[in-house]
Amino acid sequence: MLPLALCTLLGLLGRAVARPASYAVWGADSAIARGQGNGLDNGVPLVNYPDGEFQWALRHLLDRTGNQSYYDYILEGANNIVYDNGTVHGSYNLSAYVLDPIRTGPTFLYLYEKTDDAKWKTAAQTYRTQLNSHPRTAEGQFWHKLIYPNQGWLDGIYMGDVFYATWTAMLDANNHTAWADITRQFQLIFDHNIQIPIIDANYTGLLYHGYDYSHVAVWASPDRGHSPEVWDRALGWYMMALVDTIELAPSTSGLLKPTLLTLLNILAPPLRDAADPTTGAWWLVLTQPGRAGNYFESSGAMMFVYALLKAVRLGYVPDVDGSIVAAAKKGYEYAIANWVIDNGDGTMSWNNTVLVGSLNLAGDFDYYISQPVDIDDLKGLAAFVLASLEYELL
Ligand SMILES: *[C@@H]1O[C@H](CO)[C@@H](O)[C@H](O)[C@H]1NC(C)=O
Ligand SMILES: *[C@@H]1O[C@H](CO)[C@@H](O)[C@H](O)[C@H]1NC(C)=O
Ligand SMILES: *[C@@H]1O[C@H](CO)[C@@H](O)[C@H](O)[C@H]1NC(C)=O
Ligand SMILES: *[C@@H]1O[C@H](CO)[C@@H](O)[C@H](O)[C@H]1NC(C)=O
Ligand SMILES: *[C@@H]1O[C@H](CO)[C@@H](O)[C@H](O)[C@H]1NC(C)=O
Ligand SMILES: *[C@@H]1O[C@H](CO)[C@@H](O)[C@H](O)[C@H]1NC(C)=O
Repeated sequence: MLPLALCTLLGLLGRAVARPASYAVWGADSAIARGQGNGLDNGVPLVNYPDGEFQWALRHLLDRTGNQSYYDYILEGANNIVYDNGTVHGSYNLSAYVLDPIRTGPTFLYLYEKTDDAKWKTAAQTYRTQLNSHPRTAEGQFWHKLIYPNQGWLDGIYMGDVFYATWTAMLDANNHTAWADITRQFQLIFDHNIQIPIIDANYTGLLYHGYDYSHVAVWASPDRGHSPEVWDRALGWYMMALVDTIELAPSTSGLLKPTLLTLLNILAPPLRDAADPTTGAWWLVLTQPGRAGNYFESSGAMMFVYALLKAVRLGYVPDVDGSIVAAAKKGYEYAIANWVIDNGDGTMSWNNTVLVGSLNLAGDFDYYISQPVDIDDLKGLAAFVLASLEYELL
């Protein structure tokens, strides 16, 4: 029998070997080990936007590590929802006019770039065609879904417009109409959802979840048609869309880059200031910090960390006094201490991600806090991988 101290030492060594030093790697490998983000849902093909978010993270992880398994996993996931002839399946329905499935499109364009296989262009063309006839408000904002007439949600910018910009940059870079249209999607949603001092209660300087241009939704404010609260994940999607789209905007994209830089610089300081001063974490409902039932939610927080660190790293937002990076670091370190679960088998789990936040019901405080919170939700875990990639560059 080995002495107890040696057993403990071997145990520690075993764990040290099994667990990657990088949280980005650990989070991604754990999700892959569980078969998450591979285009299947209980073995059945499903076009699912969190997969697109995760594949975006895996692309960057591949660049960082050179581990070809990440590329293979992206390819396998995309192959699960696209036939050899380029037809997108997995419950995709163009006529339903939903923006969410389009989030898987950047992966198709990435694979087209890597392989030159026309299959991926055909698949991406399907989504581009959807955008050509996608219903819009009178001002031109894409509806979030056909069943939600005249509604623009922040989520939709990440789902639809990062693809729209990627497509245009790769295949239609001189289409000035398209660039102006993409710019307008970001600007319109900002103008309709930005909180206004004095007029709006519980002012944070951030963006409400969505608006109804026709003001008829039960949640629409009488003055401007916006929803009642600032929900962390919706804002997280928008912040990620800003930094990712600025990064890919080519010189032919006209006002896109200066416009998005302006919006990002308006939002970054209040987002920094919205973090809880004690813990550094962000509330689920940012407009009601500390209210009973509100809690620190893990997906929005990681989207903020990713967007803020990337914005500073690439020089999009000046961080003269270092306070933006400091806030992102504090928020990230809270996540490591509170939401990472060591499963003891070499994998980690990710805690405290809210399952959904929709504007199909009241969209009020009670609605958001009543939604179930889950472990290993890919929307949060993929954002954790992205945030880790940025944090580990510091
Ligand atoms: C590469 O990534 C795969 C998939 O996550 C992982 O299982 C494997 O250990 C990694 N290989 C190396 C050399 O890190
Ligand atoms: C593409 O392939 C699928 C699966 O084999 C088939 O069902 C579909 O009809 C094909 N579509 C076209 C346009 O050929
Ligand atoms: C696709 O969506 C349209 C519009 O909602 C609907 O009428 C149609 O039945 C859907 N098709 C399928 C196959 O679900
Ligand atoms: C350019 O973009 C606009 C707006 O999306 C679109 O209607 C048009 O078809 C595009 N032109 C070409 C040549 O693809
Ligand atoms: C503002 O926040 C307080 C407490 O956090 C809450 O009671 C109140 O309902 C909020 N007001 C609005 C308009 O959201
Ligand atoms: C996940 O978080 C919840 C709420 O904070 C907590 O009750 C639960 O114990 C956590 N789960 C694990 C496995 O740590």
